[in-house]
This record gives sequence, C-alpha cells and structure tokens, in this order.
Amino acid sequence: MPGGKHQSCLWIILLTFGVRQTVDAKPPNIIFMVADDLGWNDVGFNNPDIISPNLNKLAAEGVILNQSYVQPVCTPTWSSCPSKAVCAPLNRTFLPQELKKLGYATHAVGKSDNRLQSGDSTQADVHLTKIIGSLPFVFDPAQNGGWTQFYGNNFPLRGGKVTVWEGGTRAAAFLHGWGLQKTGSRYNGMMHAVDWFPTIITAAGGEVKDKDIDGMSMWEAISTFGPSPRTEFIYNLDNSSLPLQGHAAIRQGDFKLIKGFPGLYSGWYPPDQEYDPQSDLEAYSNMLKYQDIRGIARLYNVKDDPTEHVDLAANRCRTWSSAWRSG
Ligand SMILES: *[C@@H]1O[C@H](CO)[C@@H](O)[C@H](O)[C@H]1NC(C)=O
Ligand SMILES: *[C@@H]1O[C@H](CO)[C@@H](O)[C@H](O)[C@H]1NC(C)=O
Ligand SMILES: *[C@@H]1O[C@H](CO)[C@@H](O)[C@H](O)[C@H]1NC(C)=O
Repeated sequence: MPGGKHQSCLWIILLTFGVRQTVDAKPPNIIFMVADDLGWNDVGFNNPDIISPNLNKLAAEGVILNQSYVQPVCTPTWSSCPSKAVCAPLNRTFLPQELKKLGYATHAVGKSDNRLQSGDSTQADVHLTKIIGSLPFVFDPAQNGGWTQFYGNNFPLRGGKVTVWEGGTRAAAFLHGWGLQKTGSRYNGMMHAVDWFPTIITAAGGEVKDKDIDGMSMWEAISTFGPSPRTEFIYNLDNSSLPLQGHAAIRQGDFKLIKGFPGLYSGWYPPDQEYDPQSDLEAYSNMLKYQDIRGIARLYNVKDDPTEHVDLAANRCRTWSSAWRSG
C-alpha cells in the first residue's frame, strides 16, 4: 500500500559441498543470495556512488547479468525461482531437494526484517564477507526492483517495485566463480527468475527432468557467453484489482508490450530524493476518470530505449495486440 507498512527480506541461500555419489569430479559450492527490494541502482556495480566493495569485487570477478528479470513483487519471484515453496503446487520439487539428489548438503539462512535501502546494500556487503570466505560460486539476483517510496533506487530505469516497468523487474544480478569462461564482463542475454532453478541444477552437474516448468537453463549461455536461449517472457499477467495488482506485460525480443496500467510509481526517480507518491496517485485517479485503463497498450523497444521514454504503441499496437490475443 502506498504509505503503508511494508515487510521485506534479505535472503541468502547457502549450498555447501557434500558427497556427490555419481560423478568423481568435485561439484562447486553454491551460494544463492536473494535480496528483496534491491534496486538496479542500489549496488556498486551499477552505481559508483554505492559503497559495496565486496559485492563489486565479486561482480567484477564474475559475470554481471545485464538483463535478468524478476517479478514486480517478491512472493511470485520466490515461487518462480523456486528455492522455497510460496503459493506453489505441492507436487513441485524445489532447488534444495534437487540439489540434495545431486549429493549436496543444503542450508538456508535468512533475514526477514529491515527494509532494504541503499545503505543496506552496504550492510549486506559486510555480511557477505563473513559468509562467503573462499566459497567459489555465487548468484545474486535481486527479488524485485527497488521500492522507490522507501529510497530503493532503480534510476535511470523507469518505475519501481509493484510496477511492470524495467525498474520493478530488471534485477541487479551477477554470477561469480567456478566454470565461467568470460569473467569481468556484462552478459546482456535475457534471463528470467524462473531460469535460476534449471540454471543452478545444470551448473551443479544435474539434469532437469521436469519438463513442465517454464524455466530454461542459462548455464551454457552465461558460462560461455553464448546467445541466450530465452527470447520472450511474461513480466506479469494479473487480472486482479488495481492499482497495486492487475498489471500485464510481455517481452518478445527487444520489444515490450504493457497492457493496461503499469503500476503506481511510474516515473524516473533519481537517487537520494525524497519521493511523494501523491503525484502518482493523482495521475492514477485521473486515468480512472478519463480512460479505459485496462484498454491502454504501450510498446517499447527495450534495447534502444531501456528507460522506456518512447511509447511506440501508436504505430505498432495492431501487430502486438494480435500477438497478445493469440499468446
Ligand atoms: C503437478 O500436479 C499438476 C496438477 O495435478 C499436474 O498437472 C502436473 O503435471 C504435476 N507436476 C508434476 C511435476 O508432477
Ligand atoms: C546493459 O544494459 C544497458 C541498458 O539496457 C545498456 O545500455 C548497455 O549497453 C548494456 N550493456 C551491455 C554490455 O550490453
Ligand atoms: C479481467 O477482469 C475484468 C474486471 O473484473 C473482467 O471484466 C475481465 O473479463 C477479466 N479478463 C479476463 C481475461 O479474465
């Protein structure tokens, strides 16, 4: 709720080496760290003003993911990962179970208080040194975009948490460690949170047998810097009540179609500025008064216009609305 109390979490999943039965080669230790409400611009590797030397070092020694997407809020990101069960079907297997099958011992540590703010990525950074030591393999996807109202920052990307704009969905993320062939680089291939599960299983030497999942393994693409197997994904498809829910957007190649209301916090919010959501609330109530809010379509070329300034819908929306209907 705008102005309401908001709970968020910083989760770190630690997967330590265990005895692997089937293959002689020693599998990598894996740390899967997820930070809630961490904005694109809240980490030192995207914003030089943020003090997070350890994160920066790990990111610089690894591969930074430049187009890694998550859901606009944290619960669906959790269930799509899937590293733990949040509103997920009971017959699904989760990351720890799959890794245990591969001989891993798994351990989860977490923290579910404290809204994560820019200063908190510095704090997370300090915790990180204590945890990581010399462990060789780290993933660090943010769980959703920064919550602009609480100083989370996604600038220059548009919007924030609870929107389908890039600021709410494009996560600060990197991989570090074992098996990466081109370190010190930024990988621009498209990836979605659902891909972490098959990616980690593959990196651990396993095979994803459940064909009924949306995720694709990105391991080969990222580790060799090859093309991403992912060319499209759904940002969100939610027909429940506006304005905090009820947002829908899809991505195909470089293009992104937003159907209906993208969410409150639809502006561009430079860092270190207090933000009053009143203007967004007013814009929203005006839209409700004067427009069929669910009927609006917006189209962006995210490659040429990552900050979503130029709405191409006037020219191209016919093609896209038919894709939307048939998809
Ligand atoms: C889980 O259950 C659903 C609904 O019964 C079914 O469609 C799906 O195939 C099952 N998935 C697995 C992995 O067993
Ligand atoms: C990373 O993404 C930004 C924003 O889309 C883009 O401007 C930049 O060129 C990308 N970097 C690389 C190395 O692809
Ligand atoms: C979405 O919700 C609106 C309003 O409740 C309803 O009129 C519409 O039929 C729903 N659309 C779909 C695809 O469920």
